[in-house]
Amino acid sequence: MGAPKIQVPIIWVLGGPGSGKGTQCDKMVAKYGLVHLSSGDLLRNEVSSGSKRGKELSEIMERGELVPRQVVLDLLKEAIFTNLANARGFLIDGYPREKEQGELFEQQIGAVTIVIYVDASDETLVKRLLGRAATSGRADDNEETIKKRLHTFHTHNDAVLNAYASKTRRIDSEPAPDVVFKQIEAHLDPIFQ
Ligand code: AP5
Repeated sequence: MGAPKIQVPIIWVLGGPGSGKGTQCDKMVAKYGLVHLSSGDLLRNEVSSGSKRGKELSEIMERGELVPRQVVLDLLKEAIFTNLANARGFLIDGYPREKEQGELFEQQIGAVTIVIYVDASDETLVKRLLGRAATSGRADDNEETIKKRLHTFHTHNDAVLNAYASKTRRIDSEPAPDVVFKQIEAHLDPIFQ
């Protein structure tokens, strides 16, 4: 059986830890009325459910590593199909993090329309995450795990971007959030307005 037909645009929002994926997704939701699904949030929900699987996931996330592919894909799939009837489009935040995740998504869910790649230097990422650490309550917002998250990101990122080069739009995420968003609007206005 092929991928089910999803009639609305699918946008993958990629970028390093702390690059501003979540911040920019909030702005895209506000302007375009899209459904925002963050792989990290879906995983953290599973962790807080207290399930055995949640405990295993939490250990992996605290090591800054990737959780098993099928776990995150199943969580996304369920959330997408739950929202399918009312969605104008989907923002898939933090997925795919490796090339194989992208292949599985397109086989099992649908083809990506456009990839928004939110890019900032490692120095900026570390500064932002350490700044957020005071209030986020996230177990992975500490210096040691941030280093590992960055290492995991750099291990896989080039292969993902190369695989989707023709659909990828690089966004400079060094400036203030509103300036970053203006670059994204230039790519999404033609799709949604
Ligand atoms: P996830 O939750 O996705 O974490 P992440 O990728 O490390 O990214 P963050 O959510 O920390 O940052 P963000 O880019 O959304 O930035 P934000 O807008 O918050 O994943 C967590 C873990 O789950 C992974 O390590 C992995 O273990 C697992 N996981 C997740 N997805 C997976 C997958 N697909 N496969 C396998 N495992 C997976 O901004 C950060 C801070 O910067 C904020 O304080 C914000 O206010 C500030 N900020 C944002 N933009 C700007 C700006 N332009 N200027 C100044 N400050 C800014």
